[in-house]
Formats: sequence, C-alpha cells, structure tokens
Amino acid sequence: MEKFGIYVHIPFCVKKCKYCDFISYTNCQNIVSDYINALLMEIKENAKYGQDKAVDTIYIGGGTPSYIDAKWIATLLSTIMENYLVLPTCEISIECNPNSLTEEKIQIYKTAGVNRISIGLQAKQNSILKKIGRVHTLQQYIDAVKLCQKYKILSINTDVMFGLPTQKKKHILSTLALATKYSKHISMYSLILEPDTPLYKEVMQGKTSLPKEDQVVEWYEKAVKYLQKKGYIQYEVSNFALKGYECLHNLHCWQYQDYLGFGVSASSKMNGVRFTRTKHLEEYITLVHHQESTIIQKEVLTKVDQLEEKIMLGLRTANGIDVQDIKESFGYDLVKEKNEVIKALVQKKFVILENGFLKISSKGWYVMNTIIVDLLPN
Ligand SMILES: C[S@@+](CC[C@H](N)C(=O)[O-])C[C@H]1O[C@@H](n2cnc3c(N)ncnc32)[C@H](O)[C@@H]1O
Ligand code: SF4
Repeated sequence: MEKFGIYVHIPFCVKKCKYCDFISYTNCQNIVSDYINALLMEIKENAKYGQDKAVDTIYIGGGTPSYIDAKWIATLLSTIMENYLVLPTCEISIECNPNSLTEEKIQIYKTAGVNRISIGLQAKQNSILKKIGRVHTLQQYIDAVKLCQKYKILSINTDVMFGLPTQKKKHILSTLALATKYSKHISMYSLILEPDTPLYKEVMQGKTSLPKEDQVVEWYEKAVKYLQKKGYIQYEVSNFALKGYECLHNLHCWQYQDYLGFGVSASSKMNGVRFTRTKHLEEYITLVHHQESTIIQKEVLTKVDQLEEKIMLGLRTANGIDVQDIKESFGYDLVKEKNEVIKALVQKKFVILENGFLKISSKGWYVMNTIIVDLLPN
C-alpha cells in the first residue's frame, strides 16, 4: 500500500524571534480554539485523499505547537487517527519551545501517540538567545529534555543555528556538545537573514553585525566534523542523526513521497499535484467554516517537473539518487544524459557514483546548489 505523511501547522508563538519569517502569530490565545476547530474540519474533509493509502509519518510544526493547550494536540491526533489509516509504526513528531514544554503537556503528548519531540535551542549562550529574541534560557532547554527522557520519549531533536550575532566558533562547538549530550538528532541551520525581520533591520542599520560568511563556512565544516566524530550521520544537508534516529517525515519528503498539509500556509504534494493554503489566519478560519477551499495555489506537476524535483531533493540526502529508479519512473538515464558533467564532478570529488546511486560527497555539500543546477535535465 502506498504511504504518505501528514503535516499540521500551528501558527502561534508567545513572541516573534527577531530572525524568523515563518507564518506565526502572537497574542492570539482567543483565536486558538477557532483555528483548531477549522483544522479538525479540514482534516476530516480531506480524508478522501487518504483512501487506499497509509499514513507513516505525522509532523506537527509551527510556529510553536507546544504553546497551545496540549489537549488540542491530542484532539488533532485522534481526529487524524479516526479519519486516516495511520500505521502502528507511524512516526509522530511535534515541535516545541523549551519555555512552553511542561510535564503535563508531555504526558498528554505521550498518551496521544507522540513519539518524537523537536526542541528549538539555537544556541547554548543565554546572551545570544537574548540577542536573537528567544524567550527561553539554557536551563529551560535542559529541563525540557529531561522531561522527555522521564516520559521515555527518546527520539529528541535539537535545532541549533549558526552565523548568529556575537556568535564565535567556541559557542557553536559548546552548543553542539550540549545538543549531542541530550539528543539523538540535530538540525543545524545557517542563519538566513530574511528581509522584513527585526534582525534584518538591525543589521542594515549597523546596530548589529553578523559573523563573516567565510568564517561561518569554516565553522560549518568544523561542526560537521565534530558531529561525525560523535557518531552523527549527516543524512541531509542540515540534518544529523545517530543511526536509526533520522526524521522519517522529512526524509520521506526528500525521497519524493506524498504529503498532505493542513493549516495556514501548509503545502502538500499528493498524486502529482502541489498545493498551498492561505497564509492568513482569519481568512483560513472563515474559508473552512464556509466550506470553501483554503488552497490559494495549485500546480499540476508535469513529468519534467517531477523528474527535476526528484533529482533536486534526492541530491540533498546522503543516500543520493537511485539512478535505476529515475530511469524506470521517468525513462531518463541520468548517467548517460549527464555523462560529461558527472565525470567532471567525480574528478573534482564533488559527487560519488556507486552501487547505482549518485550522491554528493562531503566536499561537494558546500557547493551543493551549483552541483544540483549542473545535474538538472537541460
Ligand atoms: C520555524 S521554527 C519552529 C520550531 C520552534 N518554534 C522553534 O523556534 O524552535 C523551526 C526552526 O527553524 C529555524 N529557523 C527559523 N528561522 C530561521 C532563519 N531565518 N534562518 C535559519 N533558521 C531558521 C530555527 O532553528 C527553528 O528552530
Ligand atoms: S519560536 Fe520558532 S516559529 Fe516562533 S518566531 Fe521563534 S523561530 Fe519562529
């Protein structure tokens, strides 16, 4: 039976971090119940998409899902389970912030079926956390992880960021030392300075400075080596895990499996169609209550689109692309069509072609985007 993932977006945060442009709203406690009710209606309404397919991953992301009452999370999960065929082995992840994760919430998550928790630490140094507008402290992160361990949720991810204001190499390495002590999965993101964020304005006005790009690249290399030494496998450009602790939800998306997204700004890819829902909270709630579609963008993916996306996503993962699978699915012989390009990349040690898989080498990951462009069909 074909499998797919479900994503649910919870667009609320206690306070907006200075660098973040994800869709999330603050001061919205009074609208949470309307939003969840709309989500529940949308989840039920879309059950037809899941016919003859089984759900193998559920990811509740945000925003900050741990910000809302945990009973809502339990209701969301039970509604998904009542309306879709959810496999007993399903990976169920939730994103949490250290300051809002309480013992009561973890108990409710655990009973509801959550088996993976992702916690945003970003940096170990309280001074850096303050500088980027995070509302939690290092101690709150440690307390949160210990609570997860107490309730035997052992699949824990820690999000860390590098390239932050006032950050030095030693800060990153000590952040990683802490993260590896407490979590079996680490997502390590390089700061993207998003326009229209307070951090962007501060940097543009010269009030805040960021580490130089060549420094950041050097830190990234050191960080990757550090994590590898600790046994973490880099299975995607920003993701590292001890064996068996990879995030299946993301991995399956990169492997081009279908996923169905619910909530504001959620995107989906189902049966060769990609669609995205409205970003506006009140509009979303109104549309669902009037039984109108929340989809604002829909794209039927041609065979060429699908081939390109499969190559792009496959190259982001450590396993790379299954050349034979591409040939069978699309009639496209990548090795033959891109013979000269692949030869040159192999010679430069940027890619590896072995056992029928084409993958980017650890050296090549620093120039991944150029390699991907070179390998796309003409
Ligand atoms: C969208 S947040 C959701 C989880 C949770 N609210 C949190 O902050 O931990 C997921 C992760 O995205 C990363 N992130 C958000 N904005 C980013 C940016 N501008 N550049 C790089 N990473 C970013 C952070 O590491 C964050 O933990
Ligand atoms: S808590 Fe997470 S989602 Fe919310 S503003 Fe901060 S980084 Fe963005």
